[in-house]
Amino acid sequence: MEIPGYEPFYLHSLDELRAEIARLGLQIPVTDSTEAIFSPRQIAGRTLPNGFCAQPIASRHHQNLADGGFSLIWFAKPTTPLPPSRNRIQIAQLAPPCPENIDDDAVESHLDALVESAKSATAGGFDGIDISCHRGTLAQKLLAAHQRPGRFGGPLVNRMRFLLEALRRIREANPDTILAVRLNAFHACTGGFGVDSEDFRKPDLTEPLTLARALEAAGVSFLNPTINHPNLHGPERQSHPLSDADTPHEHPLIALQRLIRISEDLAKAAPGLSVIAGGFGWLRDFAPHVAAALLEKGPFAMAGFGRGALAFPSGASFRKWPRELVCIDCGACTALDKSENLVGCVIRDGATYGPTYQGMRRTEEDVLSEGLSRCHFCEAAPCVSADPLHTPIPEMISAWLKGNCETARQILFSANPLPGLASRLSPAWMEAEGACIETSLRGISVPILDLQASIAWEALQTGKARLVIPEKPNGRSIAIIGSGPAGLGAAAFLLEKGYLVRLHEKSQILGGMPARVIPARRTGPLDREIESLLEPALRANRLSITLGSEILPGPDLENLRRSVDAVLVCAGVWREPTLGGRGNGVRSGLEFLESFKSGARTSVPDRVAVLAGGDCAMESARVSRESGASQVYVIFEGERSALHWHMPESWFATPGVHAMMEWEPLRYERGPGGDLHGLHLRHATLGTSALLEIDMAIEALGLEPDPRWDFIQNEASEIYFAGGILNGGTSVASCLAEGRAAAAEIHAGLFP
Ligand SMILES: Cc1cc2nc3c(=O)[nH]c(=O)nc-3n(C[C@H](O)[C@H](O)[C@H](O)COP(=O)(O)O)c2cc1C
Ligand code: SF4
Repeated sequence: MEIPGYEPFYLHSLDELRAEIARLGLQIPVTDSTEAIFSPRQIAGRTLPNGFCAQPIASRHHQNLADGGFSLIWFAKPTTPLPPSRNRIQIAQLAPPCPENIDDDAVESHLDALVESAKSATAGGFDGIDISCHRGTLAQKLLAAHQRPGRFGGPLVNRMRFLLEALRRIREANPDTILAVRLNAFHACTGGFGVDSEDFRKPDLTEPLTLARALEAAGVSFLNPTINHPNLHGPERQSHPLSDADTPHEHPLIALQRLIRISEDLAKAAPGLSVIAGGFGWLRDFAPHVAAALLEKGPFAMAGFGRGALAFPSGASFRKWPRELVCIDCGACTALDKSENLVGCVIRDGATYGPTYQGMRRTEEDVLSEGLSRCHFCEAAPCVSADPLHTPIPEMISAWLKGNCETARQILFSANPLPGLASRLSPAWMEAEGACIETSLRGISVPILDLQASIAWEALQTGKARLVIPEKPNGRSIAIIGSGPAGLGAAAFLLEKGYLVRLHEKSQILGGMPARVIPARRTGPLDREIESLLEPALRANRLSITLGSEILPGPDLENLRRSVDAVLVCAGVWREPTLGGRGNGVRSGLEFLESFKSGARTSVPDRVAVLAGGDCAMESARVSRESGASQVYVIFEGERSALHWHMPESWFATPGVHAMMEWEPLRYERGPGGDLHGLHLRHATLGTSALLEIDMAIEALGLEPDPRWDFIQNEASEIYFAGGILNGGTSVASCLAEGRAAAAEIHAGLFP
């Protein structure tokens, strides 16, 4: 798979770099020795051991950066900082986006909120606060609000007011806070801050220099300048500049020199500011040689590395950067960032970020066309039989390949009301893609689920992911208990047949287990998908939804049964068995994932054992690894082939992940106070016993149906069952199909 926009680097030595700089007529300094970044310096009352700054990028690798020697760590979001250290400064970037058409009162309330966020960030352990004037923040937009009336627009003194007032109030609330500003000093579009009024491609630093002096007077320590690259090609080129991490439309060295010159001018205008030099990503392993040359000659205080630090977090410990470890300026992390995924280096940490990137690329048109053109349009297509919803897959592919995207959408939605969710969560090889003959012929299926995901996404964006309901109701009503995939599959079927549907959900959100438990990066925008699907039925009063309503066998169920023509129970699975009681370091997989999804829990201890067997195991293992566990043990008493696992096998090769198959968990080892110390295990075939030292156990051994429904299932009439309550939990597509099948049975009974 190609990386769009990536161009291989063509410079092999510092001399070649110098020659290229000269060829382009530029003056970018380059030095053989990187020593200048490694010398200690006094800034903001601290002695920092070196001049390495990790630029703000919303990754999770701050500890790696600290371990790798970066002495200034600029967090893109005020998440949890690292423990305090006199040798390190941690800055929290506050970058609230700018709402549309905001009046002065609203600006004032944003100011209050910003100051409050700054107070919480410093109370939480950050040394400093950055009020970001970059990437569309309110502070940035106001700096360019020439035409705006009122206190925050017009003359520069008004346009700077929001930023300066925020800084003043933050300093007043906590005089020890280090103040910092990430400033986009050249917004590279017509009317942008720092831009020539005649030519959007040229900087005009009159205002940025005045602002730098005002920041110096306001007691700001760090100024971290950045710029946009002018967009030279697009139809809207004067109004939409490229971002600082996009590949520029000119030689990257020209773009770098522009940033260096602007940053130098700002530093000279306000010598009291510690200005950070940056933008070195394209230079690969030569980045520190340019950064050191800039620090040697002044006026910069530190060198900032964005993608350089992301790809090579140990960079601040290396005098020379090995080319095979550094950023290759491929843009993949920027693509992750733009699609709101977790950001990391796709190239140097492929095990963690590769799957997400591949997932993004797979639904892009070029990659899809290539894969779908391998479809054989088989007779009695095996993919259709293996798909629980029996989607007419070859017809859908054929329509899409002919450019008939609307027909493809209709084919898909007529079989599957939630194709976005199903395409993301279904175990591909166990269903349609596993049966595709290309899987046997080449080992790679035709990308059926990717096509479904792409159609579903497009439909959601264009408002077409909706039910089509008949004009007149059919006069019958059905109650559905539970709004997971089975309940929603049934509701969609019945609403399309003209029924009135009453949906009861025990929690506060629709979507069942996927909505409550499965991380959002896997479910995608499920809330929007459900909302969009049901909207026509809600608007036509054919559907009523009662949240927070748990109906169980007894009087509530009786009353419900009397008020409708039939009741369909899709209450889902119930709970997970335990090895020896919960608490004190032992959690159920469901509870663990739910606490992460709700934000109640954000980290895990160092060594985590996942007792695997059910659907939650994979998610729990992945979330544990991503949230701080250095060792994750996936323990399963059966063979690997019997484990329900839908991530790529390569995940088991992630450092710190141990796939312990055929190990039977026996009991926990606890200390005198009940604290968890370990897990006793026995190997199923070798018979060997072992004690595994762990700090936390997550029990994801499989889910049980709710026994409270056992009795009624045997005797009821007009009460139907579908989904997890019958099958103990299975794929989304199966649950949707079972819900639809139960609904079809009800329909056949009522309209024989
Ligand atoms: C994936 C990604 C996310 C970024 N997020 C932010 C951000 O949240 N705030 C910010 O000020 N800059 C952000 N940046 C810009 C970087 O901090 C840096 O300015 C840019 O990557 C250019 O520097 P480099 O050449 O050293 O990478 C981001 C850059 C990338 C690649
Ligand atoms: S940090 Fe990694 S993903 Fe980002 S541009 Fe560099 S090599 Fe590519």
